Amino acid sequence: MKPSQFGPAYFVETSTYCGDTTAEIRDHVRRSISIELDETLCALARHRFRRHADVQILWGDSGQLLPGVLAELDKPAVLGSMVTTPAE
Ligand SMILES: C[S@@+](CC[C@H](N)C(=O)[O-])C[C@H]1O[C@@H](n2cnc3c(N)ncnc32)[C@H](O)[C@@H]1O
Repeated sequence: MKPSQFGPAYFVETSTYCGDTTAEIRDHVRRSISIELDETLCALARHRFRRHADVQILWGDSGQLLPGVLAELDKPAVLGSMVTTPAE
């Protein structure tokens, strides 16, 4: 599916992990940016999306990087945040 001209242009995610959410959403936006704290997971996700120029995986703390990422966007974005499982 191609991105709608009326929908969000960007997907910004604060926790990549393996990139499954990015993989699901990237077809619906023009560009996806996902931030992963863990260096190894970041490298794996970069490898996963190496052929997709519309996906950018950033390595770092989303709390620090997110303001700068958002400041560079010129169109509406949909934000995805970390999903955690409550401790039992
Ligand atoms: C529950 S997983 C995210 C699931 C992912 N959104 C998906 O689609 O499968 C949580 C991830 O957040 C990362 N993480 C935790 N704190 C973070 C932070 N401050 N900035 C960026 N990533 C963080 C962890 O390393 C882990 O890979």
